[in-house]
Amino acid sequence: MENSHGQQTKKLVPGLIAALAGSAAVFTWIENNPDSLSEAPPKLKNTQHDTLKATGKFFKLEEIRQHGPDSDRPWIMRGNKVYDITDWIESHPGGKVILRAAGSAVEPYWDIFTIHKKTDVYQILEQYLIGHVDPDDLVDGQVPKGSIEDPFSGDPIRDSSLVVLTDRPCNAESPMSGLTSFITSTALFYVRHHFWVPQIAKESYKMTIDIGDGSDEKTYTLRDLQTKFPQHTITATLQCSGNRRAHMNEGSGRDASGLKWGAGAISNAEWRGPLLRDVLADAGFDVDSPPGDLQHVEFYGEDTYSTSVPIDKVLDPRQDVLLACEMNGETLTGDHGYPVRALVPGNTAARSVKWVNRISLLEDESQSQWQQRDYKGFGPNETRDTIDWDSAPCIQDTPVQSAITTIRPDQNNDRSDSMVVEGYAFSGGGRKIVRVDVSIDNGKTWTQAKIEPHKHLGHKTWSWSLWTHRCRRPPADSCVIVKAVDEAYNSQPDSFGPIWNFRGVLANAWHRVRIDKLFQSDTD
Ligand code: HEM
Ligand SMILES: *[C@@H]1O[C@H](CO)[C@@H](O)[C@H](O)[C@H]1NC(C)=O
Repeated sequence: MENSHGQQTKKLVPGLIAALAGSAAVFTWIENNPDSLSEAPPKLKNTQHDTLKATGKFFKLEEIRQHGPDSDRPWIMRGNKVYDITDWIESHPGGKVILRAAGSAVEPYWDIFTIHKKTDVYQILEQYLIGHVDPDDLVDGQVPKGSIEDPFSGDPIRDSSLVVLTDRPCNAESPMSGLTSFITSTALFYVRHHFWVPQIAKESYKMTIDIGDGSDEKTYTLRDLQTKFPQHTITATLQCSGNRRAHMNEGSGRDASGLKWGAGAISNAEWRGPLLRDVLADAGFDVDSPPGDLQHVEFYGEDTYSTSVPIDKVLDPRQDVLLACEMNGETLTGDHGYPVRALVPGNTAARSVKWVNRISLLEDESQSQWQQRDYKGFGPNETRDTIDWDSAPCIQDTPVQSAITTIRPDQNNDRSDSMVVEGYAFSGGGRKIVRVDVSIDNGKTWTQAKIEPHKHLGHKTWSWSLWTHRCRRPPADSCVIVKAVDEAYNSQPDSFGPIWNFRGVLANAWHRVRIDKLFQSDTD
């Protein structure tokens, strides 16, 4: 199977599953030190140089650069060896994304896709050896760093107030100002990437739809998606499955694996685009009486990420699943999926695939890494070493969540000991927040915060609710606590210990903040 960019969309082969089973992710470079995995790039001794020079198989860096992604014969370097990978591209299990490294070095990519760092992959590569980099172009026997293309060089320049956890790939929380207005501005919307930001030209963009019945695939341009179908606007919150993982680590005293997100891996925006249901209908799928065997809708992103959602979510027009072409009234930005992202409101944000270029209807869930080997919850007794990934369902709909974003002196009150507490509350599945309970005495007594009346667009409550609570400032050693209740009367657990899970997902225990830390400036 090939998608519009020629990427293979095959399922994980059993060997790959076996290789993945022991680790939380193939793409473990954030958590593991990539250097510990990498083999030292091969260096040549001077005597070897002389022998090679005699055989004439030396290439200038300038010549190698010309064998880039668009050339007839793409080459890559590893260490100072040069390989012609033309005849391997079709067989590459990772698809045509391999061409990203063409004309340059493979190492920066293998530091991301660490699955390559093993003997059988090195052996495959050796079959395509055509020569070496000209020693005159080497510095200390190595290709100079400046001549190696950086996979992240095309990433956009970002707002400096984002709270950056990692910058390659970019993972950044929304700052407080992004969390305290109902609509988070696009620049302040949190960023959660697995890889680089793909550069996609509007003119060459195509969305391929495979309705799973063996019929021809249909393709749509961005213009088709924006003009051939009714456009729908919804407001919807996206929340990373790992939001508040840092609180879980701290509250349970056990470190879960993954980035230590605070309460800012969540944001709310207005999204606009066609209903995916309408596009599937146009592609020939019977959306009103669908065949029973196709149960899942898989999204493929240009960055190689893919995942699926249950088909019922997509076929119900009241679930508002969009192919979003606009965010906050403007074209999407690169960081948020330009030109098109899936927007699956009410589900964990990992299902709202950015840069989506292919959609397939499938009998089974996506076999991708991100469906099968990540974004799942487990019991607190399970660890990375004991985990049976197949024993848990992937996260789709999400539980009720709330967090405190600010505690500050109340400027509108004459009493100097008045304070304002603000935050957000959100539940998955379009369930509305019906109550936000606040305690300023470590949970002994509770009162309700005021939920701000914002206009929610869409058939359900896809957006967070912001809330405000004004009260007297309690003694310095007090904890302010928040918990929310959604319309199914689900509430949040009081502590993290019992919901700890080794991936640190769905961290939604009561948010507790000690106020002495927050008023430091005026108690000093
Ligand atoms: C010529 C150099 C390369 C060779 C020989 C190679 C070889 C391979 C092999 C053998 C696998 C399967 C690994 C396994 O099943 O255990 C694989 C997977 C993969 N490769 Fe490469 N690769 C190369 C370059 C690249 C580059 C440059 C990228 C990214 C820019 C890349 C992205 C991937 C991805 C995403 C997968 C995983 C596919 C999946 O999840 O099914 N590869 N590669
Ligand atoms: C965790 O508890 C479940 C249920 O008793 C059990 O099946 C599983 O083996 C336990 N895991 C470990 C690592 O003890």
